[in-house]
Amino acid sequence: MKKPLIKIAVIHGPNLNLLGIRETEVYGHLGLEDINNKMRARAEALGLELQIVQSNHEGDIVEALHQARLTARGVVINPAAYTHYSVAIRDAITAIRLPVIEVHLSNIFGRESFRHESVTGAVSQGVISGFGAMSYLLALEAIKYVVEDSRLQ
Ligand code: DQA
Repeated sequence: MKKPLIKIAVIHGPNLNLLGIRETEVYGHLGLEDINNKMRARAEALGLELQIVQSNHEGDIVEALHQARLTARGVVINPAAYTHYSVAIRDAITAIRLPVIEVHLSNIFGRESFRHESVTGAVSQGVISGFGAMSYLLALEAIKYVVEDSRLQ
């Protein structure tokens, strides 16, 4: 019998809908749908089923995390600018008690000092930052690894 797919919520934060147009020298030329398609292909190979959302609103992201608690085994999130100051998203990550991998396209530690702190990454399982679209694919490997090894949760 085939192994059941592992459900993973993927949450993209504010301005990521403009990928491919926005600061391409920092974030690259791929659009969000290109990245989502790459993720879907990798997910299929890894035995994951993705539930992908994007929102420009903090409360929506909090709700998406609450929803993930009911429907997913783990979360991959790029909180975008909220990374650096959203206590509400940080608290939601803590509240849902699911493994969360935080992703950034850019290397947040090599940029302006206000991006060096991640209030959300501090309560996540781990952070992958600086590999462009590949950051998301690495995060899928990471979340599968964490979900399948309960000692890591
Ligand atoms: C980002 C980095 C954040 O500092 C920024 O606000 C973003 C994108 C990244 O993926 O590199 O919107 O999360």
